[in-house]
Amino acid sequence: MGLTHWRNEYSLGIDEIDEQHKVLVNCISSLETSIEDPDEKQRWAAIHYAIVQLSDYTRIHFTVEESVMRILGYPGLDAHIEQHRVFVSYLKDVERKSITHDVREDEIVSFLRKWLLTHILNDDRQYVNFFVAAREKNSRPGG
Ligand SMILES: [Fe+2]
Repeated sequence: MGLTHWRNEYSLGIDEIDEQHKVLVNCISSLETSIEDPDEKQRWAAIHYAIVQLSDYTRIHFTVEESVMRILGYPGLDAHIEQHRVFVSYLKDVERKSITHDVREDEIVSFLRKWLLTHILNDDRQYVNFFVAAREKNSRPGG
């Protein structure tokens, strides 16, 4: 079983986003499990599968996050989109390399885990106050 699990400190307090981040953390956990398979062929197949799952869900999640930012007029939108773009292109790259085995398994895992957790803990956290304030404004009667 993978080592990485959801921790309360990852929570942003925005339920929809937290649920999606939990799925991404589970993808990392699956990836950690996949590199433990002693059979080389099976291991790379499992790694590839885990990366594809992570990539697919990442795309969905980033689209949601960016749409909400756009709707609410978040001032850090462009910088945040750029971070997402860099991560998506890295994912594409390792997805390809997981077919050619042109990368070290533990490097993929440690990079993806570190990027995701740092992004959630530092970068996503920056929009929380803005999102919450915007939501409160919208839910006020007459607002
Ligand atoms: Fe983000």
